[in-house]
Parts: sequence; C-alpha cells; structure tokens
Amino acid sequence: MSVGPVNINYEVLLSSFRSNVGITSDEVNEAFREIISGLRKMANHNKGSIILLPGSGTTAMEGLTNILKKGNRVLLATNGVFGDRWEEILNKYPIEIKTIRSEPGDNVSEEEILSNLESKKFDAIILTHVETSTGVKSKIEVLRKAKDLGVITVLDSVSGFGGEELDIEKNKIDYVVTASQKALGAPPGIGIAFISQESLSIVERGEGVNGYFIDFKKWLPVMSKLEEGKGSYFATPPVHVILALAKAIELCLKEGMSRRIERHQTVAKAIRSGLESLGLKIVAKRGFEANTVTAVYLEGVSPIDFLNIAKQEGVEFASSVHPKIANRSFRIGHMGWVTKNFAILALSVIERTLRRLGKDIEMGRGVRSAQEVFI
Ligand SMILES: Cc1ncc(COP(=O)(O)O)c(C=O)c1O
Repeated sequence: MSVGPVNINYEVLLSSFRSNVGITSDEVNEAFREIISGLRKMANHNKGSIILLPGSGTTAMEGLTNILKKGNRVLLATNGVFGDRWEEILNKYPIEIKTIRSEPGDNVSEEEILSNLESKKFDAIILTHVETSTGVKSKIEVLRKAKDLGVITVLDSVSGFGGEELDIEKNKIDYVVTASQKALGAPPGIGIAFISQESLSIVERGEGVNGYFIDFKKWLPVMSKLEEGKGSYFATPPVHVILALAKAIELCLKEGMSRRIERHQTVAKAIRSGLESLGLKIVAKRGFEANTVTAVYLEGVSPIDFLNIAKQEGVEFASSVHPKIANRSFRIGHMGWVTKNFAILALSVIERTLRRLGKDIEMGRGVRSAQEVFI
C-alpha cells in the first residue's frame, strides 16, 4: 500500500507477461488505440489530444513547456512536494513563476488563486489534484473560473486520475498530466498528457519552450496514427507497459468510472475512520482528504521503525517526503485495485505495528471502525 507504483491486478500483470512485441505490431497498435479511446471516455476529453510519453508523470509535467511561450508568467498553487516540482521544472526554461504555498495538510484557497489571477499578470495557473506528499485534494472547479479569466489551466492528476473525479471538458482544463502506475493500476513507464484543442495551436505553431524528446510536434502525428489503430514511431514505447495499460483501462471501463471512484472513496473513508479511532491524526484537514492517498502523523514513534515493522508484518506503506513533517508521519496509498479488504489488512498491520512499538492501543479498534463504514 505504497503511493505508487501500486499493487497490480493479475489480469493486468498477465497481459504483459510475454516476449517483446514489435512497436508497430497489430497487438501494440490495438493496445494504443484502446488506451487513447478509453482515456477520452474516462476523463471526458473528446476534442483535444492525448500524448503517451515513455517515462513517467514528470515527463508529462515537463511536456507543459510545449504550450508555454518564452516569458510567460505562471501562477503555481502548491500544497507540497509535488506541486513544488513544477517550480524546479519550469526554472529550467525562460518562464516566470509566482508560487503560492500552503502548509502541510492545507490547500491554497480559491480566493487566493482567483485574486492573483484577477491582477491579469499571469498566462497560466497550475494546480495539483492530489498532493501525494500530504494526501490533500484540491478543488479543481477553480480551474473553470480561471479559464474564464483567460489563462491556460493546468492540473497534475498523477495521484488523482482513476480514483478521483476528473471531467476535463467541464472544468475547462488545458493541460492534465497523469501516469500509468498510480490509480490507473498499471506498471510505471508511461506519462500521460491531455491537451485541449485551444492549446494545440501553440504546439502547432512551435511557440513552446520545450526541448527535443518532449516536443509534441513530433508526438502529435504519432498519436493521431495510433488513435486510428495504425502504427507509428518517434521513440520506442515500453511495449509491455502499453499492453498492461490497455488491460487496466479495459478493466476501468468495465467497472465504470463512478463505481471506481466510489470504491476509492469508501476504502479511503474506512482507512481514515480506523486511523482516527486508534488516536492517529490525518495530515489533510477535514474536507481536503483524498480518495487515493492518506498521510498520517505518528506521535512518539519513529517513522522508520514503524515502516520497517509494518513491512515485517506484511504491508509496505510509504515514508513521508514532505520536509516539514517527514520525521513524524507516514503515508498510505489506496489506489488502483484496492478493495475493502485492503483497508482491513492495512489497519490490522498498523495496530500490530504500533503495539510492537510499545503504544497502548486497543487491538481491533481500528479494524472495527473500518468495518462499520462498510456495513
Ligand atoms: C502528484 C504527483 N505529481 C507528480 C509525480 C511525479 O510522477 P513520476 O514519479 O511518475 O515521475 C508524482 C509521483 O509520485 C506525484 O505523486
């Protein structure tokens, strides 16, 4: 129950359990076609393009430089480490950035974002859907309001898409990034970028500040061909990941997005309920909790000892990566193929681990509380 890569469903795993396949073979072409058409349905993204980049979420983040022009001014609203990453990326390019930050567990407010944008000093706004370092979910509706103010809207949904609601057209988002290894439940290896029709004109005119590998002018014709089920090539895709991702998306569509999101929500709610009944404090403030990641404070216990013993007890959780809370918290990933039983297993291991570390907790209390959520 780490925060990605996550546990993989066996059907997804087995779909890639084979020898190498040709990059323009019928199987790979068909897998690409299924992925692109499935992603369009899952995210309600019908008009613009989708680019599947060999790499990861960060590769797709850097792809934003295709729709930013030299000297553009970007407003970055960050709730933690992954929001901050945009600053590091864009600082490599001739882009100006203003960053507004929240404390761990908090969310940059809609008012602060909009009042900055109303100054008309910005060309783009960037938001993180689920900040994986704190388990905080943003209210993405603010992007629709931002779009009405005339700026390019950008969302990092690396830890959101597949487990949180995301309607790209309704929220008027120009650029969304995600990755194969999180709530989509496939292996790592593919960064995914959704680009709006409007922003494509910037790419087509070659006005972006991007480098070579992520040059969307090179990727767009390849993606158009692949969407038609025809082979095309710019750089070698990780074929096994493509086969697995196609299966993962097939299963997502079979489950249905609303049921998939509801499953994530229920599991997350049960985990939080169990943790709180054990006296543990959730990092995300009430109302900001994500469906996919929960960061939890630990008191009087070393996170390193906690994670090591939990692993001995059979569950791998994730360490904290937020510098302000790293020495007193850990994270639970609950995305992809998680079920109610994952929540029960996680809580029972947390109970045993805390007991082994000398904490006076009532065994079974967290599990019981989660069970009540399920009934
Ligand atoms: C919210 C968020 N954004 C971006 C990234 C970077 O993605 P990747 O590690 O796939 O490059 C991550 C990774 O955990 C993330 O959680």
